[in-house]
Amino acid sequence: MTLSFVSIILFVLVVLLAGALIYTFSYLHRLNRASQHPADKETLPSIPSSSLPVLSNISNRIALLSESLTEQKRVESYRQKMTAMEKQEIAHLLEKEALSRQLERQLDETRQANLMVSGLNQDLEEINASLNEAINRLSALNQISRMLGMEHDKKQIYSMAVSLPVELLKAEIGHLMLPEVEKNNLVVEFSLGLAETKSGTKHSVSAGKGLAGWVASNKKSLLVEDFDKQERFPLASSMGYRRRTAISAPIMIKDELIGVISLINRKDGTCFSDEDRTLLATIASETAMAINNALLLERIQRGYFSMVQSLIVAVEAKDVYTKGHSERVTQYSLLIGEQMGLDMDQLEIIQQAGVLHDIGKITVELSILNKPTSLDSDEYNKIKDHPLTGFRILEPIDFSEKIKMCVLQHHERIDGLGYPNGFESEDILLEAKILTAADAFDAMTTKRPYRDPLSVLEALREIDRCSGTQFDPEVVEVLTRVIHALTSSGGVALLQ
Ligand SMILES: [Fe+2]
Repeated sequence: MTLSFVSIILFVLVVLLAGALIYTFSYLHRLNRASQHPADKETLPSIPSSSLPVLSNISNRIALLSESLTEQKRVESYRQKMTAMEKQEIAHLLEKEALSRQLERQLDETRQANLMVSGLNQDLEEINASLNEAINRLSALNQISRMLGMEHDKKQIYSMAVSLPVELLKAEIGHLMLPEVEKNNLVVEFSLGLAETKSGTKHSVSAGKGLAGWVASNKKSLLVEDFDKQERFPLASSMGYRRRTAISAPIMIKDELIGVISLINRKDGTCFSDEDRTLLATIASETAMAINNALLLERIQRGYFSMVQSLIVAVEAKDVYTKGHSERVTQYSLLIGEQMGLDMDQLEIIQQAGVLHDIGKITVELSILNKPTSLDSDEYNKIKDHPLTGFRILEPIDFSEKIKMCVLQHHERIDGLGYPNGFESEDILLEAKILTAADAFDAMTTKRPYRDPLSVLEALREIDRCSGTQFDPEVVEVLTRVIHALTSSGGVALLQ
């Protein structure tokens, strides 16, 4: 509205100004021609003198209006410029705002991307940790498998089957139970972290009951992740400990159950996982193979041992005076060993070495073995070869080295004057020293082709006389005690 009004005013002023100018220029033009052509002077209208100030005033006003118009145009132009600049500024601001929003969006996207990358990093770290754990477990399993494969002793295998997974899976308690078929029981054969029973007897559970019983019946491995969240098994074990978490696996040879390995609770308080159960099942499988191999080896050894026993019978058949000798030496030696507190492994060595100690006599001529008179030096030397011959007969066989050494050393003396090697006391096995004393006692109290038997007391006196030179004094002392106990308890059958 303001613009239209101003325009109309301007238009009117322009028309007036144009009229005034036309009139002025026309008058001036005629005035000029009159000056050049005086004849025309009368044609020039005269301007009343009263009109001159008015014209001057109009002219001034026209000038002012012109200036005002110019100023108005300048202001309008300036305003338009300002408006354009404002619009430009607003557009610029809008553009900046849009850019800012875009930047914020990009910043958000960057933050989200960073979070995602951080999450991925965490995932990668977890995956790496899992992979490392898996590699460590595989490595440990490989080592366990190798160790089990190298072991041929059943008891050692039982021990390793518990101790290795207990260490690997950081368990508080581990035990191996073997089935007692006739009693329908499972008995703890080896354990770690389990308190001994007060009576010294082994822990046992009824087959089919409890954790190990379930594993034995179902022949499947089992995971109880959290005992508090299940009702199948009681929290308290029948062996007296509180269970929080457990894994258990059967040891199977073909379809036959030969044992159950169980791990109870973890030292760090966490729960066992399904991976732990799988690992234990794999170790149980490796254990089964190792036990199977040990059983096969045991069977082979038993077969060979039977064959060797047949050789002993053949030796005793050749040498009628030594009939029953090996058996008696074995019995005396076992009694001495028990009195001296030897463990089961040492007694097992004595048992086998006692039976085998004179096997080398199989190569000694019958005429020498049964010669009724004293032996000459050549004959005696042939007799002295029998410990080494016996050692060589047994050498290729996978017997305990100690059994072979006992056979080799059973005629050695602690003063170093024995044969075949002249070993001194510290080089002679205790089991061999026991066999030596028992062997001598039986030889003295048995009839020989070249002499009558000594009485028990005479033999003990002779052995006592050689205590500290031929025989170990402690062994002599125990042998004397054992023989006196036998004679006073009526165990004379052993002495005949
Ligand atoms: Fe002998």
